Amino acid sequence: MPTPDFLSALLRPELAELHAYTPVAGHFPVRLDANESPPLLSAEARAALARAAVPEDWGRYPDARLVELREAIAARCGVEPDEVLAGVGSDEVISILLTALSRPRPGADAASIVTTSPTFVMYKLSARARGMRAVEVPLDAGWDLDVAGLVRAVEFARPSVVFIASPNNPTGALASADRLEAVIAAASDALVIVDEAYIDFAPRDQLALVRKHPNVAVLRTLSKIGLASLRVGWLVGDRALVAELDKVRQPYNLPVPSQRAATFALRELGGELRRAAAFIAEERERLARGLIELGLSVAPSHANFLWVGTRRPAGEVFEALAARGVLVRSFHGAGGRLAHRLRITVGLREENDRLLAEIAACA
Ligand SMILES: Cc1ncc(COP(=O)(O)O)c(C=O)c1O
Repeated sequence: MPTPDFLSALLRPELAELHAYTPVAGHFPVRLDANESPPLLSAEARAALARAAVPEDWGRYPDARLVELREAIAARCGVEPDEVLAGVGSDEVISILLTALSRPRPGADAASIVTTSPTFVMYKLSARARGMRAVEVPLDAGWDLDVAGLVRAVEFARPSVVFIASPNNPTGALASADRLEAVIAAASDALVIVDEAYIDFAPRDQLALVRKHPNVAVLRTLSKIGLASLRVGWLVGDRALVAELDKVRQPYNLPVPSQRAATFALRELGGELRRAAAFIAEERERLARGLIELGLSVAPSHANFLWVGTRRPAGEVFEALAARGVLVRSFHGAGGRLAHRLRITVGLREENDRLLAEIAACA
């Protein structure tokens, strides 16, 4: 669709290189493409969530200060409520961060972020939409942080924000602790965001970094553990940072049902959510073994998905699976070492079995 001239003159030029996010449309009996959790919550938990979500008064705005939700998040993370900023998914928290920090750092010619490649696309998209430069440093051959490359990028670009997803999407790898520390040390004049969207599936977390380093904040979300419909994510960081970011947040960002259901889930459903995450982690290992038996390569994963190497070009395997009713995620458009990689979300046992049966015929 051509953009009218007057509009082109008004729009940020960076928008020309961006695309609206459009999930693959169509009916797929098995959807293993979006790193959501399969339906594992008990009927009782679902009924209780539905009851908790109902507003007391449909005519009133939600709590602008998110008091109960931030208290519940803080209790879960072992921090204080004023160290928590909650948003419409971690996506919104990323937007808030980049709006607040979109100014060039002293000595830098442009505002920029540094992140890895491949990684979660929203860091770059949000940065570009604000006119910031995005410097991507390729992960090493084992999909871990390339410390030398990241240190060079930090020195050269002087970024305002460094984003490290750990476990990373789409590779599933937790960053090595010593490498992450080295990057944080090199970026002591920037804010380092450690994105823990998948931490519920990992053997250790990195929250202690927030106490250890004043320039580190951690992102978390309810989206990957069975509550993506609520769109609740948050940042844990220094209270001075949270206070500044809170000036950018829309006052009524989270609707009443999301605030109430998320608060209930955090307070009352901890055991059930942990059991669901443990089931996914077990299924992940079973699925990995099945894929390896088929001769595919599978990177070690600490997330709710697998990073799978295919013999045939990944785009062909993706199409063949989709034609058989199984939707996964392919990154072949990026080319290079991603041309033979698929990201497969762990589903229910029967969904994973179906994936194994279909991929055996086409990978
Ligand atoms: C690393 C990472 N961070 C953040 C998000 C976004 O999560 P949310 O649903 O909380 O916006 C995702 C979603 O895929 C992700 O992979």
